[in-house]
Amino acid sequence: MVSNSGNKPRVLSGIQPSGNLTIGNYLGALKQWVEVQRQFDCFYCVVDLHAITVAQNPDELRQKTRESAAMYIAAGLDPEVSTIFVQSHIAAHSELAWMLTCMAPLGWLHRMTQFKDKSAKQSQESIGAGLLNYPSLMAADILLYHADLVPVGDDQNQHLEFTRDLAQRFNHAYGETFTLPSVMNPEAGARIMGLDNPTAKMSKSEDSENHAVFLLDDLAAARRKIMRAVTDSHREIRFSSERERAGVNNLLTIYQAITDESSADIEAHFADKGYGDLKRAVADCVVSTLEPLQARYYELMNEKGYLDSVLKLGREKAGAIAEATLKRAQENMGFLAPS
Ligand code: TYM
Repeated sequence: MVSNSGNKPRVLSGIQPSGNLTIGNYLGALKQWVEVQRQFDCFYCVVDLHAITVAQNPDELRQKTRESAAMYIAAGLDPEVSTIFVQSHIAAHSELAWMLTCMAPLGWLHRMTQFKDKSAKQSQESIGAGLLNYPSLMAADILLYHADLVPVGDDQNQHLEFTRDLAQRFNHAYGETFTLPSVMNPEAGARIMGLDNPTAKMSKSEDSENHAVFLLDDLAAARRKIMRAVTDSHREIRFSSERERAGVNNLLTIYQAITDESSADIEAHFADKGYGDLKRAVADCVVSTLEPLQARYYELMNEKGYLDSVLKLGREKAGAIAEATLKRAQENMGFLAPS
């Protein structure tokens, strides 16, 4: 089996700079990234090539890419420990993505639920082919680094399965080239639901006012959105998989993902309390997470040179690994090496 040459298992993950990051992105992905950064050899990218699978305004994309990188650091990633970079800065991502696209069966791509959901909202004439091929690009991101573990929310699990299957297909056809990665979901918070509609995943691209708490929301607005979250007409506060109790379950999940307390302790804590108390407790812990994160974020956005130097270093470190893997994959696939 091919693997990275260091002793620590390697981790790779990314977030699209396609909007403002939400507490779903934080609890499903970023928080785990920070927790594992000293234990593993971690690579975290801002996946701008993924963002263009739907149309983006060029100035906004540039801005959101910087903002996302700053948010990674504000959330607790230490650039001296984790490698932070921008996906499009390393051409190997696009090059390997093309090679993998040529090997990805259309049937597999059409089965991806994210493609089915996103394409259902648009006409065939307006959907770019990138939306269908997107999982091959995500596979390239992961396979270029021989990542062992990929920390993500559970909406990405199907893409991870696809990555493993495609890596196996390539290895089988052209000889051992890629490491098969495993998915890593957080124990709590792998799927945070919309506050206004707790049966749909909280998303950065949903327009409605009380759907998501954004990491840069004004603290009073964040609190207000949580106080307005949809609940139900029951009284009991407990974790539940019943559809009609999804709102309370979501609030308890947010509380658990932030406090890391056990389900039994949380249910005992709220046993004699009402929904208003639950919402206040969730709002308090969300606000105390956002406050220091926002302070650090605004500091970083004012230190322009610093962010650029982090991304330059990340590009150098990640680029060297990605290019070596790409070269090997090209050789194995039969490309004539330039003389
Ligand atoms: P993206 O940008 O949609 O989301 C980034 C990360 O946030 C997680 N997430 C959530 N977790 C819990 N609850 C939610 N409501 C929620 N919303 C989002 C996602 O699961 C993800 O971990 N395809 C990926 C980006 C990507 C990637 C990669 C990830 C591109 N290449 C390589 C890992 C490895 C995506 O669109 O994530």
